[in-house]
Amino acid sequence: MTSDDAVRVYYQNVMAGADAVGAEHGLTDEQLDGLAGRIGKIVKQIEEGRARGERRYRELPYDESLIQAVEAACAVRRGKYDNLVVLGIGGSALGNIALHTALNSPMYNLLPNAQRRGPRLFVMDNVDPVQFGALLDLLDDELDRTCFNVVSQSGETAETVSQFIIVRDRLRRRMGACGVRDRILVTTNPQAGAMRQIVKEEGYDSLPVPDGVGGRFSVLSPVGLFSAAMCGVDVRRLLAGAAAMDLRVRNPQLRQNPAALLAAVHHLLTQRGKSLHVMMPYSYQLKDLADWYRQLWAESLGKRKSLDQREVFAGATPIRALGATDQHSQIQLYREGPNDKVITMLAVEQFERDVPIPSGFDDVDALSYLGDKSLGRLLDAERQATEQALLVSQRPVLTVVFARVCEETVGQFIYLYECATSIMGLLMNVNAYDQPAVELGKQYTFALMGRAGYEQQARELQAKTQTKRACQV
Ligand code: PA5
Repeated sequence: MTSDDAVRVYYQNVMAGADAVGAEHGLTDEQLDGLAGRIGKIVKQIEEGRARGERRYRELPYDESLIQAVEAACAVRRGKYDNLVVLGIGGSALGNIALHTALNSPMYNLLPNAQRRGPRLFVMDNVDPVQFGALLDLLDDELDRTCFNVVSQSGETAETVSQFIIVRDRLRRRMGACGVRDRILVTTNPQAGAMRQIVKEEGYDSLPVPDGVGGRFSVLSPVGLFSAAMCGVDVRRLLAGAAAMDLRVRNPQLRQNPAALLAAVHHLLTQRGKSLHVMMPYSYQLKDLADWYRQLWAESLGKRKSLDQREVFAGATPIRALGATDQHSQIQLYREGPNDKVITMLAVEQFERDVPIPSGFDDVDALSYLGDKSLGRLLDAERQATEQALLVSQRPVLTVVFARVCEETVGQFIYLYECATSIMGLLMNVNAYDQPAVELGKQYTFALMGRAGYEQQARELQAKTQTKRACQV
C-alpha cells in the first residue's frame, strides 16, 4: 500500500492547544499518553484472543476459501441478470449499501446496461409495504432477469424472511420451482437456522456467514462481498486494504495505531461529557459508510451491563451528518448548542473526478469568486472552513483522510473502525459483540404476529396497547 491509497487519522484538533480546541474542551498530551499503557495491553489482549480463534472478523481479509466462494457465486451469475436484489437488514444490509455508494457511480442504477459494471442493485432493508410493493411492481416484467440474495446470519429475522417468502412465491408462480432455485442465493449461517434448513430442503445455492462473525462486523465476509463483486467492485483489493490496516492496528503503541487513537480520543472525550459522536463525510461516496458506522458504534457500545455484570448504561450516540449539506441543517447546533459532541470529518484528498465552475459573472461579487474554481475545491474549502469554525467554538474535530476513495481505502476504513470498536468496547468494559436489547423488540414482534410460543407476551402487549389507547388526543 502506498501513501496514495492510505487512510490517515488527524487528531490535532481534539487537543487542548490554543491553536486547537483549547484547554477547557481539548485533550492534553498527558491525558492521551496516560491511556497508552492500558491501550497497549488491550491491543495485545485482542491479538492473543485472535491467536485462540476469537474476533473472527479480523481474519476475513485472509480467508481465501470465502473469497473463492464469492467469486464462484458471481461467475455463474454474471451477465445473466439485469437486477440484483439484496434482502437483508442491519448488519446484513448496511455494509452492502455502504460499499455500493462508495465504489460505484452515484447514478449506477440509472446507467444503461452496457455502461454498468453489473446488474442494477436494490438493497431492501425494510418491510415498508409501499417501498417493497413498488420494487415488486418495477421488477414484475423483469423477474426472469432478476436475482435475489437473501442475507440473514440467523436465518430467522422477520423482516428478511418475510421478504423471502413474498419473492419465492412470486417467482414460483411465474416460473416454477426451478426458476426460484436459479434466482435465489442465500447467505446465512453454515449450519444452523431456518434459512439453512430451507436451503437444504429447496436446494438453493448458498454462501456462509462464518461462525463468530457478528452481523455488524460481517461486511468483509460473503454478506457484503457478493453484491459488491457482482456490481464490479474488486473485492480482493478491498480485502487487501483491510489487511494493510491490520498491520497498523496490531501496533500496541497508541500514537502509531489509528484504531487505538480513535478509541482513546472518543473514550476520553466521552468521559468529559461528549457522548454524541458525529461522523460527517465530505464526500457523497462516503455517506453510507457513516450509516454503517452508526450501527457499529451504537449496537456494539450501547450496553446496560459491563463485562463484570454491573449496571453501567454505557454508550455513545453516533450521528451521521453530510458535508456540505448538513452545514445548512446541523452546524448551528454543533457550534452553539451543548458542547457534547466529537465530530469526525471524512475528507478526500483527490476526488475521482472534479467539475469545473466556469467564469461568467465577473461583475457580480456574490458569484464571480467562484469562477474558474471547481466543485471539489469548493467542497473541500467548506470542510476546512467548517472545521475552523467549530474550533472557534471549542468543538473537538477529528479528521479521517482518504487519499482517494477506492477499494483499498474503503477496506482500510472499514477495518479501522471495526478495530476501533473492539478497543473501545474493552476501554468501556462492555461486550461489543452482543445486542441483548434488540431481542425484546423481536420477541414482541413475534407475539404481535402470532408466532407460537409467544402467547404470554401477546397478552401483555394487548393489555398495554389498550392503556395507551386511553391516553390519546
Ligand atoms: O449486527 C447485528 O448483529 C444485527 O444488526 C443483525 O445484522 C441484524 O439484526 C440482522 O440479523 P440477521 O443477519 O440474523 O438477519
